[in-house]
Amino acid sequence: MYACHSSVPITRSDPRVKPETVLITGASSGIGKELARCFARDGSRLVLVARRRDPLEVLATQLRPASGIEAVVLVADLACPEGAARVFSQIERDGLEVDVLVNNAGFGAQGLFAQLPLDRQLEMVQLNATTLTHLTRTFLPGMIARRRGGILNIASTAAFQPGPHMAVYYASKAFVLSFSEALSEELSGTGVTVTALCPGPTATGFGEAAQMRRTPMFRLLTMSASSVAEAGHRGFRRRRAVVIPGVWNRLLTFSVRLVPRWLSRRIVGAMNRPRET
Ligand SMILES: NC(=O)c1ccc[n+]([C@@H]2O[C@H](COP(=O)([O-])OP(=O)(O)OC[C@H]3O[C@@H](n4cnc5c(N)ncnc54)[C@H](OP(=O)(O)O)[C@@H]3O)[C@@H](O)[C@H]2O)c1
Repeated sequence: MYACHSSVPITRSDPRVKPETVLITGASSGIGKELARCFARDGSRLVLVARRRDPLEVLATQLRPASGIEAVVLVADLACPEGAARVFSQIERDGLEVDVLVNNAGFGAQGLFAQLPLDRQLEMVQLNATTLTHLTRTFLPGMIARRRGGILNIASTAAFQPGPHMAVYYASKAFVLSFSEALSEELSGTGVTVTALCPGPTATGFGEAAQMRRTPMFRLLTMSASSVAEAGHRGFRRRRAVVIPGVWNRLLTFSVRLVPRWLSRRIVGAMNRPRET
């Protein structure tokens, strides 16, 4: 059902090579859960991270017999400043080395910046940007030393322009894209790659978590979580720096380059403005 392709040979059948360990944040639902299925097909050992234990356990229980892989569940709140350090301590206690880090956990909030609760917006910056940076800095040196591995960061098409009515979310994703692209260049020749996956509207729990009403942005061209994950996984295996799944998303992000920035932010503001119907 999930056709995940890979251009890098996967070595599960070779008993001399230990399987890569892939840590996926936000694996309890949506894109993260589908990415877990993709990496399971490769035979990777998985560390599934999120706050809700039950859906992680259900996923791990499904994947172990289906793919013959090891799947470890790690419950953590990554929107608190200690989250990344706690994950690292647990990984060390379990004696694991993380070969692939998938920074997927994230959320948005829709509304006017001045009216949305400050603590929620600061949590968003913490989860979407600060924890992502912390986990990257934690696991990257080991990958460089082993001369293998990579990081898949989930950005968004929101990364390409400012987003009135979701100002902090768009800014956090602009950070993820810029950071990932810069790292990808810095790591050239090290054997370690960084990919930014930039989905557009995707059918997941995201809209509900962001308390989004039916905006024109979300009514248009929503993709499935599995097709977004497949594209991200394929692009990561092909060592792409940036992956934008879906033709319409690629056209939209390209068109941003053709219009003045003031017009771009005005259009996005109109698209993001909540409608009652
Ligand atoms: N859906 C879209 O339209 C869309 C578009 C572009 C980019 N994205 C990005 O894609 C990524 C995945 O989102 P999704 O669409 O798959 O939404 P989702 O279904 O709501 O999944 C979000 C995941 O993040 C986890 N998470 C949320 N807060 C967390 C916290 N404090 N600590 C640890 N884990 C936390 C959630 O698990 P728990 O609740 O169990 O903690 C869940 O597994 C996000 O970075 C999002 O910004 C989504």
